[in-house]
Amino acid sequence: MNEKSLTRKEFLKLSGAAAGAGLLATTGLGGTAKAQNSAMASELLHRPIHSTGEMIPAVGLGTALEFGDLEADFEKRKGAIEALFREGGTVIDTSPTYADAEKIVGRALDELNARDKCFLATKISISGQQEGVEQNAGSQEDLRTNKFDLLQVHNLRDTEAHLETINAMKDAGQVRYVGITHFRENQNEGLVNAIETYPIDFIQCQYNLLDRSIEDSVLPAAREHGVAIMINVPFARGRLFGPTAGQGLEIPEWAKDFGVDTWGKFFLKFILGHEDVTVIIPGTINDYHVVDNIGALRGRLPTQAERERMVQFIADL
Ligand SMILES: NC(=O)c1ccc[n+]([C@@H]2O[C@H](COP(=O)([O-])OP(=O)(O)OC[C@H]3O[C@@H](n4cnc5c(N)ncnc54)[C@H](OP(=O)(O)O)[C@@H]3O)[C@@H](O)[C@H]2O)c1
Repeated sequence: MNEKSLTRKEFLKLSGAAAGAGLLATTGLGGTAKAQNSAMASELLHRPIHSTGEMIPAVGLGTALEFGDLEADFEKRKGAIEALFREGGTVIDTSPTYADAEKIVGRALDELNARDKCFLATKISISGQQEGVEQNAGSQEDLRTNKFDLLQVHNLRDTEAHLETINAMKDAGQVRYVGITHFRENQNEGLVNAIETYPIDFIQCQYNLLDRSIEDSVLPAAREHGVAIMINVPFARGRLFGPTAGQGLEIPEWAKDFGVDTWGKFFLKFILGHEDVTVIIPGTINDYHVVDNIGALRGRLPTQAERERMVQFIADL
Protein backbone atom coordinates (compact mmCIF):
# COMPACT_ATOMS: atom_id res chain seq x y z
CA MET A 1 0.00 0.00 0.00
CA ASN A 2 1.27 3.46 -0.86
CA GLU A 3 2.15 5.96 1.76
CA LYS A 4 2.07 9.64 1.11
CA SER A 5 4.79 12.05 1.91
CA LEU A 6 2.56 15.00 2.91
CA THR A 7 2.98 16.00 6.53
CA ARG A 8 -0.13 15.82 8.71
CA LYS A 9 -0.39 19.62 8.76
CA GLU A 10 0.02 19.91 4.98
CA PHE A 11 -2.57 17.24 4.41
CA LEU A 12 -5.12 18.79 6.75
CA LYS A 13 -4.67 22.12 4.99
CA LEU A 14 -5.04 20.57 1.54
CA SER A 15 -7.96 18.27 2.19
CA GLY A 16 -9.95 20.49 4.58
CA ALA A 17 -13.40 21.18 3.24
CA ALA A 18 -13.54 18.45 0.60
CA ALA A 19 -12.71 15.67 3.05
CA GLY A 20 -15.10 17.16 5.54
CA ALA A 21 -17.96 17.07 3.09
CA GLY A 22 -17.32 13.37 2.62
CA LEU A 23 -17.05 13.79 -1.11
CA LEU A 24 -13.58 12.44 -1.70
CA ALA A 25 -13.50 9.23 -3.68
CA THR A 26 -10.22 7.54 -4.55
CA THR A 27 -8.04 10.33 -5.83
CA GLY A 28 -4.38 11.08 -6.23
CA LEU A 29 -4.08 11.83 -2.50
CA GLY A 30 -2.30 8.59 -1.77
CA GLY A 31 -5.12 6.04 -2.22
CA THR A 32 -4.20 2.37 -2.29
CA ALA A 33 -3.10 1.03 -5.65
CA LYS A 34 -5.54 -1.85 -5.37
CA ALA A 35 -8.48 0.41 -4.66
CA GLN A 36 -7.56 2.67 -7.55
CA ASN A 37 -7.51 -0.31 -9.88
CA SER A 38 -11.08 -1.16 -9.07
CA ALA A 39 -13.79 0.72 -10.93
CA MET A 40 -16.25 -0.26 -8.23
CA ALA A 41 -14.03 0.97 -5.44
CA SER A 42 -13.71 4.35 -7.10
CA GLU A 43 -17.46 4.89 -6.76
CA LEU A 44 -17.27 4.38 -3.02
CA LEU A 45 -16.74 7.02 -0.38
CA HIS A 46 -13.12 7.03 0.80
CA ARG A 47 -11.78 9.07 3.69
CA PRO A 48 -8.23 10.17 4.50
CA ILE A 49 -5.92 8.93 7.24
CA HIS A 50 -4.70 12.34 8.29
CA SER A 51 -1.15 11.37 9.25
CA THR A 52 -0.31 10.29 5.69
CA GLY A 53 -3.15 11.34 3.41
CA GLU A 54 -3.80 7.71 2.39
CA MET A 55 -7.43 7.18 1.40
CA ILE A 56 -9.35 4.14 2.63
CA PRO A 57 -12.92 2.94 1.95
CA ALA A 58 -15.00 4.35 4.81
CA VAL A 59 -16.71 1.05 5.71
CA GLY A 60 -14.92 -2.21 6.53
CA LEU A 61 -15.61 -5.37 8.55
CA GLY A 62 -15.48 -6.10 12.29
CA THR A 63 -14.87 -9.59 13.65
CA ALA A 64 -16.04 -9.59 17.28
CA LEU A 65 -19.19 -11.46 18.39
CA GLU A 66 -19.86 -14.62 16.36
CA PHE A 67 -17.01 -14.26 13.87
CA GLY A 68 -14.37 -16.04 15.94
CA ASP A 69 -16.15 -19.37 16.38
CA LEU A 70 -13.72 -21.88 14.91
CA GLU A 71 -16.23 -24.72 15.27
CA ALA A 72 -18.78 -22.86 13.14
CA ASP A 73 -18.99 -22.51 9.37
CA PHE A 74 -15.57 -21.23 8.16
CA GLU A 75 -16.73 -20.90 4.53
CA LYS A 76 -19.47 -18.52 5.62
CA ARG A 77 -16.97 -16.26 7.38
CA LYS A 78 -14.57 -16.50 4.45
CA GLY A 79 -17.52 -15.53 2.23
CA ALA A 80 -18.02 -12.35 4.26
CA ILE A 81 -14.36 -11.44 3.78
CA GLU A 82 -14.52 -12.29 0.07
CA ALA A 83 -17.58 -10.05 -0.26
CA LEU A 84 -15.72 -7.20 1.41
CA PHE A 85 -12.99 -7.21 -1.25
CA ARG A 86 -15.39 -7.90 -4.12
CA GLU A 87 -17.48 -4.87 -3.14
CA GLY A 88 -14.42 -2.62 -2.93
CA GLY A 89 -13.78 -2.62 0.84
CA THR A 90 -10.36 -3.24 2.39
CA VAL A 91 -10.47 -2.69 6.17
CA ILE A 92 -10.75 -5.62 8.61
CA ASP A 93 -10.58 -5.12 12.37
CA THR A 94 -9.82 -8.05 14.66
CA SER A 95 -8.20 -8.87 18.00
CA PRO A 96 -6.44 -11.76 19.73
CA THR A 97 -9.33 -11.65 22.24
CA TYR A 98 -12.14 -12.29 19.69
CA ALA A 99 -12.08 -16.05 20.25
CA ASP A 100 -10.48 -17.52 17.09
CA ALA A 101 -11.24 -14.57 14.81
CA GLU A 102 -7.55 -13.98 14.00
CA LYS A 103 -7.15 -17.63 12.95
CA ILE A 104 -10.22 -17.37 10.73
CA VAL A 105 -9.17 -14.06 9.17
CA GLY A 106 -5.61 -15.34 8.63
CA ARG A 107 -6.78 -18.54 6.94
CA ALA A 108 -9.32 -16.67 4.80
CA LEU A 109 -6.79 -14.05 3.65
CA ASP A 110 -4.39 -16.87 2.80
CA GLU A 111 -6.94 -18.90 0.84
CA LEU A 112 -8.22 -15.80 -0.96
CA ASN A 113 -4.64 -14.65 -1.58
CA ALA A 114 -5.85 -11.31 -0.29
CA ARG A 115 -3.36 -10.12 2.33
CA ASP A 116 -2.14 -7.31 0.07
CA LYS A 117 -5.70 -6.14 -0.64
CA CYS A 118 -6.46 -5.89 3.05
CA PHE A 119 -6.01 -2.99 5.43
CA LEU A 120 -5.52 -5.29 8.43
CA ALA A 121 -6.04 -3.95 11.95
CA THR A 122 -5.55 -5.91 15.14
CA LYS A 123 -4.78 -5.16 18.77
CA ILE A 124 -2.61 -5.87 21.77
CA SER A 125 -4.97 -6.73 24.58
CA ILE A 126 -3.22 -7.88 27.74
CA SER A 127 -1.42 -6.40 30.74
CA GLY A 128 2.37 -6.21 30.70
CA GLN A 129 4.74 -5.21 27.91
CA GLN A 130 6.42 -8.60 27.49
CA GLU A 131 3.02 -10.30 27.62
CA GLY A 132 1.93 -7.94 24.83
CA VAL A 133 4.95 -8.84 22.70
CA GLU A 134 4.15 -12.52 23.18
CA GLN A 135 0.50 -12.00 22.44
CA ASN A 136 1.39 -10.22 19.22
CA ALA A 137 3.67 -13.11 18.23
CA GLY A 138 0.51 -15.25 18.45
CA SER A 139 -1.39 -12.73 16.31
CA GLN A 140 1.35 -12.95 13.68
CA GLU A 141 1.04 -16.72 13.62
CA ASP A 142 -2.76 -16.72 13.52
CA LEU A 143 -3.08 -13.93 10.97
CA ARG A 144 -0.26 -15.49 8.90
CA THR A 145 1.55 -12.19 8.50
CA ASN A 146 4.16 -10.21 10.39
CA LYS A 147 2.91 -6.91 9.01
CA PHE A 148 -0.06 -4.95 10.29
CA ASP A 149 -1.60 -1.93 8.66
CA LEU A 150 -2.87 -0.81 12.05
CA LEU A 151 -1.88 -2.12 15.48
CA GLN A 152 -3.93 -0.80 18.37
CA VAL A 153 -3.79 -0.80 22.16
CA HIS A 154 -7.08 -2.50 23.10
CA ASN A 155 -9.34 -0.66 25.54
CA LEU A 156 -6.58 1.62 26.85
CA ARG A 157 -5.04 -1.37 28.64
CA ASP A 158 -1.40 -0.75 29.59
CA THR A 159 -1.29 1.96 26.95
CA GLU A 160 2.20 3.30 27.47
CA ALA A 161 3.91 -0.09 27.53
CA HIS A 162 2.17 -1.31 24.36
CA LEU A 163 2.68 1.97 22.51
CA GLU A 164 6.41 1.50 23.02
CA THR A 165 6.17 -1.96 21.43
CA ILE A 166 3.94 -0.80 18.59
CA ASN A 167 6.14 2.21 17.82
CA ALA A 168 9.22 -0.02 17.76
CA MET A 169 7.40 -2.30 15.30
CA LYS A 170 6.52 0.75 13.22
CA ASP A 171 10.18 1.77 13.12
CA ALA A 172 11.03 -1.77 12.00
CA GLY A 173 8.47 -1.59 9.15
CA GLN A 174 6.06 -4.11 10.70
CA VAL A 175 3.32 -1.62 11.52
CA ARG A 176 2.05 1.22 9.33
CA TYR A 177 -0.28 2.98 11.76
CA VAL A 178 -0.52 3.18 15.56
CA GLY A 179 -3.87 3.25 17.34
CA ILE A 180 -5.76 3.05 20.63
CA THR A 181 -9.29 1.69 21.11
CA HIS A 182 -12.19 1.66 23.53
CA PHE A 183 -15.95 1.42 23.27
CA ARG A 184 -17.38 2.71 26.53
CA GLU A 185 -18.71 6.17 27.24
CA ASN A 186 -16.89 6.24 30.58
CA GLN A 187 -13.56 5.87 28.75
CA ASN A 188 -14.05 8.89 26.50
CA GLU A 189 -11.98 11.04 28.83
CA GLY A 190 -9.15 8.50 28.85
CA LEU A 191 -9.19 8.48 25.07
CA VAL A 192 -9.05 12.28 24.89
CA ASN A 193 -6.06 12.22 27.26
CA ALA A 194 -4.35 9.64 25.06
CA ILE A 195 -4.98 11.73 21.93
CA GLU A 196 -3.45 14.74 23.66
CA THR A 197 -0.50 12.80 25.09
CA TYR A 198 0.72 10.38 22.42
CA PRO A 199 1.52 10.78 18.71
CA ILE A 200 -0.99 8.24 17.35
CA ASP A 201 -2.53 7.80 13.89
CA PHE A 202 -5.91 6.27 14.83
CA ILE A 203 -8.38 6.03 17.64
CA GLN A 204 -11.25 3.56 17.66
CA CYS A 205 -14.45 4.14 19.64
CA GLN A 206 -18.21 3.65 19.69
CA TYR A 207 -20.59 5.95 17.81
CA ASN A 208 -24.14 5.16 16.76
CA LEU A 209 -27.72 6.44 16.96
CA LEU A 210 -27.98 5.23 20.58
CA ASP A 211 -24.61 6.49 21.82
CA ARG A 212 -23.37 9.84 20.51
CA SER A 213 -21.20 10.59 23.54
CA ILE A 214 -17.98 11.06 21.52
CA GLU A 215 -19.42 14.02 19.59
CA ASP A 216 -18.42 16.62 22.16
CA SER A 217 -15.23 15.07 23.49
CA VAL A 218 -13.31 12.52 21.45
CA LEU A 219 -14.20 13.80 17.97
CA PRO A 220 -13.06 17.41 18.51
CA ALA A 221 -9.81 16.23 20.16
CA ALA A 222 -9.09 13.86 17.25
CA ARG A 223 -9.82 16.62 14.74
CA GLU A 224 -7.50 19.04 16.49
CA HIS A 225 -4.65 16.51 16.57
CA GLY A 226 -5.19 15.10 13.06
CA VAL A 227 -6.02 11.60 14.33
CA ALA A 228 -8.12 9.28 12.14
CA ILE A 229 -11.28 7.79 13.66
CA MET A 230 -12.41 4.18 13.35
CA ILE A 231 -15.96 3.65 14.60
CA ASN A 232 -16.88 0.39 16.32
CA VAL A 233 -20.29 -0.95 17.37
CA PRO A 234 -22.16 1.12 14.72
CA PHE A 235 -25.38 -0.88 15.23
CA ALA A 236 -25.11 -0.89 19.05
CA ARG A 237 -24.21 -4.59 18.78
CA GLY A 238 -27.29 -5.15 16.61
CA ARG A 239 -29.72 -3.55 19.10
CA LEU A 240 -30.67 -0.84 16.60
CA PHE A 241 -32.29 -3.46 14.39
CA GLY A 242 -34.71 -4.58 17.12
CA PRO A 243 -37.29 -1.77 16.96
CA THR A 244 -36.70 -1.16 13.21
CA ALA A 245 -36.02 -4.10 10.87
CA GLY A 246 -37.07 -6.48 13.66
CA GLN A 247 -40.54 -4.90 13.78
CA GLY A 248 -40.85 -4.72 9.99
CA LEU A 249 -40.70 -0.93 10.18
CA GLU A 250 -40.66 0.77 6.75
CA ILE A 251 -37.74 3.05 5.85
CA PRO A 252 -39.10 6.62 5.99
CA GLU A 253 -39.58 8.26 2.56
CA TRP A 254 -37.30 11.21 3.43
CA ALA A 255 -34.35 8.86 4.07
CA LYS A 256 -34.70 7.46 0.55
CA ASP A 257 -33.63 10.94 -0.67
CA PHE A 258 -30.09 10.11 0.39
CA GLY A 259 -30.03 6.54 -0.87
CA VAL A 260 -31.23 4.64 2.20
CA ASP A 261 -33.07 1.45 1.26
CA THR A 262 -32.19 -0.72 4.29
CA TRP A 263 -31.91 -0.11 8.04
CA GLY A 264 -28.21 -1.01 7.87
CA LYS A 265 -27.62 1.88 5.47
CA PHE A 266 -29.78 4.18 7.61
CA PHE A 267 -27.51 3.60 10.64
CA LEU A 268 -24.23 3.72 8.71
CA LYS A 269 -25.08 6.81 6.67
CA PHE A 270 -25.94 8.61 9.90
CA ILE A 271 -22.38 7.92 11.14
CA LEU A 272 -20.71 8.70 7.80
CA GLY A 273 -22.61 11.99 7.77
CA HIS A 274 -20.24 13.16 10.51
CA GLU A 275 -17.33 14.64 8.66
CA ASP A 276 -14.73 13.52 11.25
CA VAL A 277 -15.40 9.79 10.85
CA THR A 278 -12.70 8.00 8.85
CA VAL A 279 -13.98 4.41 8.73
CA ILE A 280 -16.70 2.25 10.31
CA ILE A 281 -16.22 -1.48 11.04
CA PRO A 282 -19.66 -3.13 11.32
CA GLY A 283 -19.42 -6.71 12.52
CA THR A 284 -21.07 -9.50 10.52
CA ILE A 285 -20.56 -13.10 9.45
CA ASN A 286 -22.95 -12.71 6.48
CA ASP A 287 -21.78 -11.80 2.99
CA TYR A 288 -25.15 -10.15 2.19
CA HIS A 289 -24.76 -7.85 5.19
CA VAL A 290 -21.26 -6.92 4.00
CA VAL A 291 -22.78 -5.99 0.62
CA ASP A 292 -25.45 -3.92 2.39
CA ASN A 293 -22.90 -2.18 4.62
CA ILE A 294 -20.50 -1.31 1.79
CA GLY A 295 -23.55 0.00 -0.08
CA ALA A 296 -23.71 2.84 2.46
CA LEU A 297 -20.63 4.25 0.72
CA ARG A 298 -22.63 5.04 -2.42
CA GLY A 299 -24.74 8.11 -3.05
CA ARG A 300 -24.96 11.26 -1.02
CA LEU A 301 -24.76 11.51 2.75
CA PRO A 302 -27.44 13.06 4.97
CA THR A 303 -27.13 16.77 5.70
CA GLN A 304 -26.91 17.97 9.29
CA ALA A 305 -30.65 18.69 9.30
CA GLU A 306 -31.35 15.19 7.97
CA ARG A 307 -29.04 13.67 10.60
CA GLU A 308 -30.98 15.48 13.32
CA ARG A 309 -34.17 14.08 11.86
CA MET A 310 -32.65 10.57 12.03
CA VAL A 311 -31.78 11.06 15.71
CA GLN A 312 -35.33 12.19 16.47
CA PHE A 313 -36.85 9.35 14.46
CA ILE A 314 -34.96 6.72 16.47
CA ALA A 315 -35.56 8.51 19.78
CA ASP A 316 -39.32 8.47 19.06
CA LEU A 317 -39.50 4.68 18.52
N1 LIG B 1 -12.81 -1.94 22.24
C1 LIG B 1 -12.73 -2.29 20.99
O1 LIG B 1 -11.70 -2.22 20.37
C2 LIG B 1 -13.97 -2.80 20.30
C3 LIG B 1 -15.16 -2.97 21.02
C4 LIG B 1 -16.28 -3.43 20.34
C5 LIG B 1 -16.21 -3.70 18.98
N2 LIG B 1 -15.04 -3.55 18.30
C6 LIG B 1 -14.95 -3.81 16.83
O2 LIG B 1 -16.08 -3.20 16.22
C7 LIG B 1 -16.77 -4.16 15.42
C8 LIG B 1 -18.25 -3.84 15.35
O3 LIG B 1 -18.89 -3.99 16.58
P1 LIG B 1 -19.82 -5.26 16.92
O4 LIG B 1 -19.57 -6.34 15.94
O5 LIG B 1 -19.63 -5.57 18.35
O6 LIG B 1 -21.29 -4.67 16.81
P2 LIG B 1 -22.13 -3.98 15.61
O7 LIG B 1 -21.28 -3.85 14.40
O8 LIG B 1 -22.75 -2.76 16.18
O9 LIG B 1 -23.31 -5.02 15.37
C9 LIG B 1 -23.07 -6.30 14.88
C10 LIG B 1 -24.42 -6.98 14.65
O10 LIG B 1 -25.09 -6.34 13.57
C11 LIG B 1 -25.55 -7.33 12.64
N3 LIG B 1 -25.43 -6.74 11.29
C12 LIG B 1 -24.30 -6.35 10.66
N4 LIG B 1 -24.59 -5.78 9.47
C13 LIG B 1 -25.94 -5.82 9.34
C14 LIG B 1 -26.84 -5.39 8.33
N5 LIG B 1 -26.43 -4.76 7.23
N6 LIG B 1 -28.17 -5.61 8.52
C15 LIG B 1 -28.63 -6.24 9.64
N7 LIG B 1 -27.81 -6.66 10.65
C16 LIG B 1 -26.48 -6.45 10.49
C17 LIG B 1 -24.68 -8.53 12.83
O11 LIG B 1 -25.42 -9.70 12.57
P3 LIG B 1 -24.93 -10.82 11.50
O12 LIG B 1 -23.58 -11.31 11.94
O13 LIG B 1 -26.00 -11.85 11.62
O14 LIG B 1 -24.88 -10.18 10.16
C18 LIG B 1 -24.30 -8.45 14.30
O15 LIG B 1 -25.22 -9.13 15.10
C19 LIG B 1 -16.45 -5.48 16.12
O16 LIG B 1 -16.76 -6.58 15.29
C20 LIG B 1 -14.99 -5.28 16.45
O17 LIG B 1 -14.18 -5.52 15.30
C21 LIG B 1 -13.93 -3.08 18.94
